[in-house]
Amino acid sequence: MLLLSMITALIFCTYGEKNPAVQVVLTNKGLQYGRNVAADWIQEKLEVVTLPDVDGEIPIGFLGHIGYTLTGVTIPKCDFPDPSLEFYQDVSGLKMSIAGLSIALTGAWRAHCGIIYGGGSFDLALFGVDLVSVVHLGSDGDGHLSLINVSCDTQTRDVDLRFYGGSSWILQPFVKHLKARIISQTEAKLCAAVEELIVNLDHHLQAMKVIFQVNQDLILDLPLTGLPVIDASSIRLGFQGEFYSIKSPKEPPFEAQPFVVPEHPGYMLSVGLSDFTLNSASFGYFSAGLLQAFIDDSMIPPSSPVHLNTRSLGPFIPQLPKMFPDLPMVLHTYARHFPVFSFHPGAITLSLPSSVKAFAIQPNATLTPLFKLHVDSSFQGRVWTDDGCVKGSVTMDSITLTLAATVIGPFKTTALENLAKMAMKMFVLPRLNDKLSTGFALPRTRHAQLVNSVLTVEEGFIAFCSDAKLQPSDHHLNEHTF
Ligand SMILES: *[C@@H]1O[C@H](CO)[C@@H](O)[C@H](O)[C@H]1NC(C)=O
Ligand SMILES: *[C@@H]1O[C@H](CO)[C@@H](O)[C@H](O)[C@H]1NC(C)=O
Repeated sequence: MLLLSMITALIFCTYGEKNPAVQVVLTNKGLQYGRNVAADWIQEKLEVVTLPDVDGEIPIGFLGHIGYTLTGVTIPKCDFPDPSLEFYQDVSGLKMSIAGLSIALTGAWRAHCGIIYGGGSFDLALFGVDLVSVVHLGSDGDGHLSLINVSCDTQTRDVDLRFYGGSSWILQPFVKHLKARIISQTEAKLCAAVEELIVNLDHHLQAMKVIFQVNQDLILDLPLTGLPVIDASSIRLGFQGEFYSIKSPKEPPFEAQPFVVPEHPGYMLSVGLSDFTLNSASFGYFSAGLLQAFIDDSMIPPSSPVHLNTRSLGPFIPQLPKMFPDLPMVLHTYARHFPVFSFHPGAITLSLPSSVKAFAIQPNATLTPLFKLHVDSSFQGRVWTDDGCVKGSVTMDSITLTLAATVIGPFKTTALENLAKMAMKMFVLPRLNDKLSTGFALPRTRHAQLVNSVLTVEEGFIAFCSDAKLQPSDHHLNEHTF
């Protein structure tokens, strides 16, 4: 889609220049949860690994040499101790170690020396294999996290090798030589398997979307804004977290302010969401001209004491029914400026500068303009998490009406202002609060779900701490809970 690529271009030319509006801190608890899932995955993978054939020649002096091949080597048993996984500040990455791995190998052997041929099976056990893999966490410049192999080291303490079958005596004297070859092959293969895992994960990361279409009006850009920051107890990622209107994508006249989401070691992850993110959505809707509505009498609850017609508004605007007797009315309301959200400890405030143009509907359906009011209102909201949902409540702080233009002469707005207050309190807010008390489910994917989530509003951002629960998937990830 041309439009999406234009938006992408707009985003990437500003890459790295912005403060992150969304921050994610993965704690050691989160890392250890990921480690358990990965450990099962690695074990399953190792169990189906087939090692390459090993072949070679052993010189035996004037007799020439013995040629041998070890084939069909599989790993029937692998005793896989819990790996350790830690943040590794030195390379700005992660260090994975497995200590004391035992691997049983089995396969077939063939050997020939001159005219003597032999063949059979063999068993091999490697004991006390240590493996240390170090990866660097970076960013690929397109806003994806990247994983880069830094080093892989293995060491094997002991080996046991036995040959079975006809003429196995041919190889028996050379067991020491063969052990060494098998160890080096197996160690190389282990590191290659780890490297393959790293490359695979990296490919998955590169393939991840950083732009999401949210609905028909908005997209959300979530590329990394910089390199991951790793210390001894956490990894910290910053994302752009900016909404754009699909119809008129442009940069808002405000920027994300720096903030630091606190780290909570008791939770797997902490997420900070700047008020910038919400305001970019507000700006996106506003610049696409979507923050407007026509209100006619059919939308006013029948129980309302006041209705949208010139007669009913007579007590508020005395000249109206005299100049335009008994005509229905329609109101065009629109945001004069984009609504601005700001986050303060415990509360979210919203200021909503809007205007209302009032029209009389003539019998021939012509709209006759009557007057224009500026309606400036502000609201306070609270948000919290409950039962896997984000819930909230809203109260009105203030609403003021001022007459901005009139074709029916001046009138006092105090009475109308009281009417607006009453309408807000009796009809609008109860409905909104009803919806907010039901709440919105926390985002979840096919593979992961957030649990034990806590949300607080801080100065400039919302802080969200949570644990995660991974679902079994087609990668055969087993379900783990803490
Ligand atoms: C991974 O790192 C180790 C240690 O530097 C190196 O021996 C190995 O070749 C690397 N793998 C790749 C594919 O670069
Ligand atoms: C509709 O009626 C109004 C008021 O009677 C009049 O001013 C206007 O010209 C009419 N418009 C049309 C299109 O007939």
